[in-house]
Amino acid sequence: MPGLTSGLPNYGDAGFSEYLRRAFIKGAGYSDEALERPLIGVVNTYSAYNPCHGNVPQLIDAVRRGVELAGGLALDFPTISLHESFTAPTTMYLRNLMSMDTEEMIRAQPMDAVVLIGGCDKTVPAQLMGAVSTGVPAIQLVTGSMLTGSFRGRTVGACTDCRSLWAQYRAGELDEAGVWEANNELVGSVGTCSVMGTASTMACLTEALGVALPGSASAPATTAARRRIAEATGRTAVALASSGTTLDSILTPAAFHNAVRLLGAIGGSTNAAVHLAALAGRLGFGFDLDALDAILRDTPVLVDLRPAGVHYMSDLHRAGGVPEVMRRIADLLDLSAAVVTGQTLGAELDAIAPVPGDDVIRSRERPVHTGGSLVVLRGNLAPDGAVLKQSAASPELLEHTGRAVVFADSADLASRIDDPDLDVRPDDVLVLRNIGPVGAPGMPEAGYIPIPRKLAAQGVHDMVRISDGRMSGTAFGTIVLHCAPEAARGGTIGLVHDGDTIRLSAAERRLELLVDAGELARRRSEYSFDPDLASRGYRRLYEQHVTQADQGADFDFLRRRPGGIQVPPRL
Ligand code: FES
Ligand code: MG
Repeated sequence: MPGLTSGLPNYGDAGFSEYLRRAFIKGAGYSDEALERPLIGVVNTYSAYNPCHGNVPQLIDAVRRGVELAGGLALDFPTISLHESFTAPTTMYLRNLMSMDTEEMIRAQPMDAVVLIGGCDKTVPAQLMGAVSTGVPAIQLVTGSMLTGSFRGRTVGACTDCRSLWAQYRAGELDEAGVWEANNELVGSVGTCSVMGTASTMACLTEALGVALPGSASAPATTAARRRIAEATGRTAVALASSGTTLDSILTPAAFHNAVRLLGAIGGSTNAAVHLAALAGRLGFGFDLDALDAILRDTPVLVDLRPAGVHYMSDLHRAGGVPEVMRRIADLLDLSAAVVTGQTLGAELDAIAPVPGDDVIRSRERPVHTGGSLVVLRGNLAPDGAVLKQSAASPELLEHTGRAVVFADSADLASRIDDPDLDVRPDDVLVLRNIGPVGAPGMPEAGYIPIPRKLAAQGVHDMVRISDGRMSGTAFGTIVLHCAPEAARGGTIGLVHDGDTIRLSAAERRLELLVDAGELARRRSEYSFDPDLASRGYRRLYEQHVTQADQGADFDFLRRRPGGIQVPPRL
């Protein structure tokens, strides 16, 4: 029988369990008739600290309406909520905790299916990672993007323009009054960042993975469309409760292939490589970064959104959203992949009318970029891989050899980057280490190393920058990220000295420290890294169990035992 006894152990006999649970929930005024319906859990990640989820109460209302229209009963329940700007030391540090919270609360409480409502960067990955192991049917609903604003006649949005306006201010091109005037306009409403950052990227990928309704990713947070999508998601959850379709039957290798294709076509965030690897691990799949590179290499970037392009998420929505992007790369997708609606991806795309246009979503004849939006680099600086968002880099820096200027950690960077006496030239390579999963801890988005103030003042806007950390999906520049292994785990990035020569070749997918092996061995023998490891609590758990970036920075004990399948398949 569905409902209050679903998946739970009994108190005494089964009849008494039902009797007891009904008695308690009737304390909230429910009737027996309401309690005999399929029970749909709704994850409530509303928090006053999380404006990206500020519309969650309205979405829960709409989901509930959809559930009730389809004959179910919706009960929402809280989990932790993570906003990028209000979570120290970094949301990535807490993504795994959120996934555990999500998994355990879905397991702990009776429900026949669950609606995962989330949006801010780490939320969607955390919710999918958590729900996938529960065996409870689940569907993802994203909160939708925020409105854009306007500053002195130009459209602005979080948080690519936060960065570019601040960089202008640092360079003396914008005064203090101006930069604060713009501050009121950067975040136009509740909802997630309005550019193709990590939140938008992961929202789009939910459609390619098949775990959200087709067309559901792009409607802005404050629109009527967003609420109708929530209502439809609630209806679908009731259907999932009766079919019993779980996420692991949807998240097949074909789904990962399609997700990587879409990641390329939207020019999505580097963080997706980490989150997809973590999700793959929860399913027992190995994650093949070289296959990701190969798939992206022949996937054209068609979506022209900031940070790499010019438009915003609301423009993508009006241009047809993810279904239109997928239609234009349909020959590159596995259209037989399953969708949470019970249809194939191909059937879903056929059912949605095409939207003409060649501006926000380009035609195949006029791509924004070719040759791989992201590239995976290897070499002695990153034997287990590093990632560079080629489409957001300066083309002239993609093949570059330069002198290393090394920062030992974020504190060292903060204390010296603006020092007028810093020995740095425009063609140098900035290296920041100890911002990896263990080193920081939590692999913060500190890889967007600022241009030293004295160079910025001379008009230098980009330099090759390398780290073992991550970067916000809303940032841009020739920035090499996720060097694995990280310095705190013995990676070569910990052995770079000021003045060494580093060679980056995006074309060859190489990242080399041009120091001979004997010298590196000598440095390694002298190197001692003494991280300040925690003695208790979540931080101790984190430091002892977090994996490297190429494995998704997930906890080793949350991964399913690998079954030998590698994703994404090249097809
Ligand atoms: Fe939440 Fe950007 S801060 S999506
Ligand atoms: Mg972000």
